[in-house]
Amino acid sequence: MMGDVASSSARITGWGAALPEKVVTNADLEATLDTSDEWIVERTGIRERRIGGSTTGLAIEAGRRALDQAGVPGADVDLVILCTCTPDETMPASSAAVQQGLGIAGGAMDLNAACSGFVYGLVAADGFLRSGLGRVLLIGAETMSRIVDWEDRGTAILFGDGAGAVVLEGGGGPGRVLGWDLGSDGSLRHILHADAGGTIQMDGPEVFRRAVRIMVESAERALQGAGCSVDDIALFVPHQANARIIASACSKLGISAERTANNLALVGNTSAASIPLALVGAADAGRLAAGDLVLVVGFGAGMSWASAVVEWAT
Ligand code: UT7
Repeated sequence: MMGDVASSSARITGWGAALPEKVVTNADLEATLDTSDEWIVERTGIRERRIGGSTTGLAIEAGRRALDQAGVPGADVDLVILCTCTPDETMPASSAAVQQGLGIAGGAMDLNAACSGFVYGLVAADGFLRSGLGRVLLIGAETMSRIVDWEDRGTAILFGDGAGAVVLEGGGGPGRVLGWDLGSDGSLRHILHADAGGTIQMDGPEVFRRAVRIMVESAERALQGAGCSVDDIALFVPHQANARIIASACSKLGISAERTANNLALVGNTSAASIPLALVGAADAGRLAAGDLVLVVGFGAGMSWASAVVEWAT
């Protein structure tokens, strides 16, 4: 499903990130798994990942930074959307703890679209703002380490924990979601899944084979909906799953590495936190200016995919 929402306004007015303190390097994993730093770096681009904390703890930390930067108190937020596939509890939604922790006056809900979650959340937030809400706090937060099988070298090397958040405000001014694409193919659930209470099971090569095509096609639909071309994109923020997937998607889309956010080496795959962590890192590094167009593209379990073209506001 692709969308053209030229009339909308979802300005990103604040952003923030949170990472656990504990660093787990490839050398640390060599001690417990039949793997090597050389293999992990060559096949994935990952050098280390952060492990620890809780999903709500990380979400609150990232959310507080985003609110502080936007100069928005929790009491002025109408809705918090927590994108996660690793909630701390089955019920209530983990966003309830975030709502309380940040003193948010409005509603709270979780959104699970696995690694595509943050972009689904962005499109959902844009819809809420167009229907009259004033401010949405959108957070991607995960503690993937809690559902990783630490004896499975096919997945244990990939995932990490963390959170990234943005404040989205409606009304006038620059900053909009210009186009988007959301999709899911549930017939592929079996290639990447974790049963309730279980660990991640993944057919890595099969996910890999499908990922690049899914990303490229979804990105092209979002660009079409936004009425722009890839040459108009100032920054490409892909889901951080594997450096080879990112490189291949960049080459097929015609986007250079210089225009692509890549923090995979330091945080690994943080699922729904991956795109906001990479986006916040790029914004903090001064890589974005008002009016820049940002292309965000997620894919993951489902298989799900989600892309959006966002005009940077500040
Ligand atoms: O956000 C969720 C989306 N997930 C993804 O995007 C993951 C997509 N998939 C991948 O990133 C890659 O498939 C992996 C990184 C998971 C695996 O890389 P690969 O290049 O597809 O390797 P492979 O699974 O085809 O395995 C190649 C070889 C095998 O050995 P043999 O049979 O050739 O002797 C594996 O047993 O590499 C072996 N291997 C490892 N060796 C050292 C697999 N994992 C490891 C490891 N260390 N950690």
